[in-house]
Amino acid sequence: MGSTDYAKELAAKKSLDFIEDGMVVGLGTGSTATRFIKLLGERVKRGLKIRAIASSNTSKELAESLSIPVIDFQRCPEIDVAIDGADEIAPGLALIKGGGGALLHEKIVASASRRFIVIADSSKVVTRLGKVPLPVEVIPAASPLVARKLVQMGIRSTIRRLNTGSDFITEEGNLILDCDCGEIQDADTLAASIRNIVGVVEHGLFLHMAERALVSDGADVKTLFK
Ligand code: 5RP
Repeated sequence: MGSTDYAKELAAKKSLDFIEDGMVVGLGTGSTATRFIKLLGERVKRGLKIRAIASSNTSKELAESLSIPVIDFQRCPEIDVAIDGADEIAPGLALIKGGGGALLHEKIVASASRRFIVIADSSKVVTRLGKVPLPVEVIPAASPLVARKLVQMGIRSTIRRLNTGSDFITEEGNLILDCDCGEIQDADTLAASIRNIVGVVEHGLFLHMAERALVSDGADVKTLFK
């Protein structure tokens, strides 16, 4: 296992401390969340009684393959704790998420959770958000309008594509615009401005949501608070 993978594993392992019998657990998406789901599956095999709500079909299928009971969010909209990765973690636990394209459901799961805990390797920690593109999920028909409005805000965007060249389509049938925002000076204002554009479904700024981040450099795990 490479050092980044090992760091992800350590962070994921630490997050198990927050899982107790009887909980409804929100499952994130991505390589770090995948490690958490696998570790959770081992605990379930050993008798842990939890139910899970997944933020993507990929995470749902993985959980089910590990005999983790996955329930429907429509039937149980309250989640005790959600564990998910992040693309960037800035001071105040301001996050960019959505590298895997699951930002809408990840945000729904995080918002529905009493506790939202981020797990990551230390390369994700930044002093200011914006080194990675900010994903924005948009209604396909509105994507030219949204792209134009973003340009008016000084933000260039590109439609996310698969390796095959076809558009990446989210689980809700939308497109992702990856936005080059540069260094983000005021994430709250940017989030509000993007949210205001007609056709935007959701953006990858997760602000004032995470309770803590468990971050590992491969040696130990540090806890970051707001
Ligand atoms: C997926 C996400 C992921 O949590 C984020 O991209 C981090 O992924 P990884 O754990 O693979 O580094 O937001 O939409």
